[in-house]
Formats: sequence, structure tokens, C-alpha cells
Amino acid sequence: MAIIGIDLGTTNSLVTVWKNGQSILIPNTFGHFLTPSVVSIDHETIYVGEIAKERLITHPKETAGIFKRFMGSDKIYTLGKRRFRPEELSAFILKKLKEDAEAFLKEPVAEAVVSVPAYFNDAQRSATKRAGELAGLKVERLVNEPSAAALACQLMNAEEDANLLVFDFGGGTLDVSLVECFDNVINVLAVSGDNRLGGSDFDRLLARYFCQEKRLDFEALNENTKGVLLQSAEKCKFDLTDAETAKMTVSAEELHDTLPISREQFIEIAAPLFTRLTEPIKKVLIDGSLSLDEIDQVVLVGGSCKMPVVKLYVNYVLGKEADSIGSPDTIVALGTGAYAGIKARHQDIRDILLTDICPFSLGVNIVNPLEHSRDLMSVLIERNTTLPASRTGIYCTASDFQSKIELKVYQGEGRYADENSFLGKLDLPVPRKPKGQETVDVRFTYDINGILVVEATALSTKNTKSLLLISDSNTMDKHEIEKKVAALQKYKIHPKDKDENRLLLARGDRLFTQTVGELRKAVEFELFLFSHALESQKTHAISKARERFSYFLDQVSWELENGGFGPSLTNPDENWYQTFKTEDTGDKTGIPSEEDLKNLFLNWQLNRKKRDD
Ligand SMILES: Nc1ncnc2c1ncn2[C@@H]1O[C@H](COP(=O)(O)OP(=O)(O)OP(=O)(O)O)[C@@H](O)[C@H]1O
Ligand SMILES: [Mg+2]
Repeated sequence: MAIIGIDLGTTNSLVTVWKNGQSILIPNTFGHFLTPSVVSIDHETIYVGEIAKERLITHPKETAGIFKRFMGSDKIYTLGKRRFRPEELSAFILKKLKEDAEAFLKEPVAEAVVSVPAYFNDAQRSATKRAGELAGLKVERLVNEPSAAALACQLMNAEEDANLLVFDFGGGTLDVSLVECFDNVINVLAVSGDNRLGGSDFDRLLARYFCQEKRLDFEALNENTKGVLLQSAEKCKFDLTDAETAKMTVSAEELHDTLPISREQFIEIAAPLFTRLTEPIKKVLIDGSLSLDEIDQVVLVGGSCKMPVVKLYVNYVLGKEADSIGSPDTIVALGTGAYAGIKARHQDIRDILLTDICPFSLGVNIVNPLEHSRDLMSVLIERNTTLPASRTGIYCTASDFQSKIELKVYQGEGRYADENSFLGKLDLPVPRKPKGQETVDVRFTYDINGILVVEATALSTKNTKSLLLISDSNTMDKHEIEKKVAALQKYKIHPKDKDENRLLLARGDRLFTQTVGELRKAVEFELFLFSHALESQKTHAISKARERFSYFLDQVSWELENGGFGPSLTNPDENWYQTFKTEDTGDKTGIPSEEDLKNLFLNWQLNRKKRDD
């Protein structure tokens, strides 16, 4: 059975496989490599990807995106009447990608290598593994996104040893990493980043700027309008990637307006975000103890790096030219595919070892001499230490005649223990002696599977106690997983063969909410017509109607973006249907003849009139 690679992104997810000596991207039902990480619910049916993205606007209360940001947290998403945890929503994405891979490979898939930001802590990593389990995938290895990017670069590039600075700026997170590649080893030297900074923040700033210019209160707008505004902002951002100026056109229920924006203005609006790019770059260079001269290559990863100004900014901060190897939004995915190849022990891929690092410092609590009620953190394994790692520390008793030493294990960078995540506790009995006279030796051993072993030995008695902390410790047990899987089973991911029709209907629904007047009537009529064809269940008729409906929707989208009414959409009067050529094949195939269309149109008008009355 094949092992697949998955880049589970905040905005987009991709699935890959190692085949014929290379990592290849697997297309979804629409032939796209990027599947939006959006989930929507309609009764017991779950929509994932493109269709769900359309429903962000028409059904905002039943739809969710950007949930990767909340992996490992207690956040609950309410979609319609159902409640989901972030990992359950991620499980739907993974399940869809698994199905796409199975359809492409024509064989079942049971295992995946999934990438996560190097910055993810244990709780976030466990949640990702759980999402895999819930999707029916074995996820033995998570791979850090920069390591995956570096692996893809190394395979595409020469065999040379190199130090890479990987600048991954995606939809929801910024990760900056230093990666050392030598002798078939890929070693992450240091990671830094901002897991609250990504492309969607640019969209939000643009949307707010639009509101400010149009004297609107963004917060007061309804969810539907906010969704349309954000989508228009993203579209405008894309346009500014290709051109110096763009128009931000918004067509929503309560808002129809347009605003020209230049690249210069955009840079000004987004200035607060740019300054936040500098800090992680500086931090990673300090943590990795590398000077700028020692960096051989700057690799741009993530969709947001397509913005020319981001590349310029990175060049400016680093004083050297950054490269994009391949497309910045597929490179991590290609790396996961390569890693899946290594894991499956394919002969045609060299055995490259990806080392891991500890993304957060690990330590124990110690008494704070200045503030007894608040313990300090004593770090044993520093962040960015290459794994596996083993470190020891020696501590002594802090009060007179204490009978035990209570070691609390924490993960994080805070100076005070309580500012970090608490991982577990260990009590070690010690002989009662005046303070400072009993000493314990504490050893931390942390491996690449996120298993931390804490061993404490009282030096006077040689009494040892140990504690095993598995980063998956908050994983549900087998029984719980089975229960959850069964609960999620009742939601059916929409059937693949209907994908294309569902997407068109969802687009039609969205355009219906975005249009007004005659154009809206036209959309309504076309939706009616297409649904009519679907009801006929005649394959040929459906395929013809789909062609027509798809062409029509493209026209309407064009109209909305360009703010005018095209010749074919001026006015849907009785003759309007004639602008579309249909074959007069009669009833045999179910394709409506011109006469049928005319009747359908009159029928629709009649229904509409009845409803209006
Ligand atoms: N041509 C473009 N111009 C500007 N921005 C773009 C372009 N193409 C994609 N983006 C932005 O890139 C972001 C998505 O990037 P990507 O697919 O790499 O993110 P992701 O992997 O889902 O997120 P993350 O890595 O944060 O988990 C979106 O915010 C999108 O708007
Ligand atoms: Mg990404």
C-alpha cells in the first residue's frame, strides 16, 4: 500500500506521492493540486475544499476555515447544529485528500507523512496526529515544513552541501528556519516564526481599508458581506502581485462598490505586517549561530511569497537575493512526498536523514529566591537542540527538612514556570536534611518521536524515579478513537462523481447572493435550469447543461469584477434564452430544445411571480 505525503496547510492542503523516482502532486476532482482547507456541513453531508470555500459566503454559519491556527487548543467550532474540534475538521480534509490519492493511485492508502510548522508545540503535533487517526490514516511521522522544503530543494538541486534559510510565508503562519544539508543529512539548525501572521492578515487589512475609505464599520457588517469583502480583498491582493494597480470590487447583499488600489498604497496599508517579518529572521540567525555570509541559499516558500514586495523585503533585510525553487506553494508538499518515498524505502530515492529539533525549551521548576510563590523555569533542553538529545541538571533542596522534591516539567520560553505549558510531575523522596544538603540529578532525554523521559536520582540514596512523557499523551485511547471515528463516519463527504455539479451549484448560490436586479434574476433562472437538468438524471443532458451553466457563471463573475453588464446578460426577457445555442435533440437525451427552454423560462417567471405575490 502506498504511503502519501500531505501538506496540511492553513489555507490550502496538498497531497503527493513518490512515484517513478520523483515526488508528484496528486490532483483533486477538479484537477487542482491545491485543495482549500475549508469544511462545510449541510445536514449529514460534509463539503471539503473548493465547494466549501464557495459556501463560506453563502453559508458562513455552516462553514469553517483557518482552523489549523487552533490545532491543539480547546476551541470548538459550531457548524450548523454540530460542534467540532479543530482536529476533527482537519480530519475531514485529510480524509478527502486520502480519497483523492486513492482515486489517483487506484489502490488503498493507509499511511501518510504529514507536515507541520516547525513551530508547532507538542499539543499541536498531537492534534495533527489525532486528525490523521480520525481520517483513518496511520501518521507515524510528522515532518517539519522547513525540513520538507529543504528536502525538496536538495532533490531538485545539486548534491552540494548547503546552509539554507527557508522563509515560509503561507496563509496563516510565518516560519523562518535555518537548515543545514550535508552528507545526506538534513538538519534544522534553528526555527523561528510567528504563528499568527500570514496572507489572510493582508486580506483583512485590505478589507478594513476598503471599509474605512467607504465609511463603513467592518464589524457591523453581516457575516456574508464580511466573507465577500475578504474574498474581494484576496482577489485584489492577487492582482497586485501581477500589476501595479488593481481594483477592489465588492458585490455583496448590502454592499456594491469598488476602490482602486495601487501597489504602493497596498504596501503602506500592510506596513505593520512587513515590520513583523524582520524579527523571526533576526532571531533565527542568532539562535542558529550563523552569519549572513554562511547562508548559501534563501528559499522562498508559501503562497504569500508570490507577492513581489515580500521578496523585495526579504532581499532587503538579508542583503542577498532570495530564490523561489519551483512554485512556492507546492514545495513543502513535494518534500512530504519525497519523505513518504524514503519511509516506504523506495530504491530510487537516496536515504536522506531528516533530523528534528526541539521547537520549545524543556525544563523544570525551581524556587524563585525573590518571589517564593512563583517558581522560575530552569531549562534543561534548550529550544532548537537537535534531537535525540539528553541533558542533565543538578538541583538541591530549597527548604529545611523537606521530605521530597517535587519536579514539575514544563515546555516553553517563559522565565516563570507558570508562563509555560505544564507537561507532568514527578515526586522524589529525599532524606530530611537542612536545605541545600540533599542533591538530585535530573536527566531529560527527548527523542524524535516526541517522547521525553525524565529521570531524577537522589544522590545520597541513589533512589531513582522516572517519568515518561509522550507528546501524544493526550491522544485518545483506542476505544475513544473508534468511538470518534464512528461518530464522524455518519457524516458523508460529498460523493466524488457529483463534485463538479455541486461546485457549480455552490458558485451559482454564491453569485446569487452577490448580484442584484436583472443579473440576479438571470442567475436564479440559470440555477433553476441547471437543477432541472440534474433532476432529469440524464447524463448527456447534465453534461450539456453543465457546460452552459459554467460558461454563464464565468460571465457573471466577469461582470461582477468589471462592474458592467455584458451583452448576453443585459436583460433576461423572453428572448434572452436564445443567446445560448442548444441542440434541438428533443426528449431522447433530455437536453431542452429552444421550445423547452422557452417553456421553462415562462414556468420560472410564473413561479417567481407567484412567490413575489
Ligand atoms: N499570487 C499570489 N499573490 C499574493 N498572495 C498569494 C498568491 N497566491 C497565494 N497567495 C496567498 O498565499 C496564502 C496561501 O499560501 P499557502 O498555500 O502556502 O498557505 P498554507 O500552506 O495553507 O498556510 P500555512 O503554511 O500558513 O499553514 C494565502 O493567503 C493566499 O492569499
Ligand atoms: Mg504551508
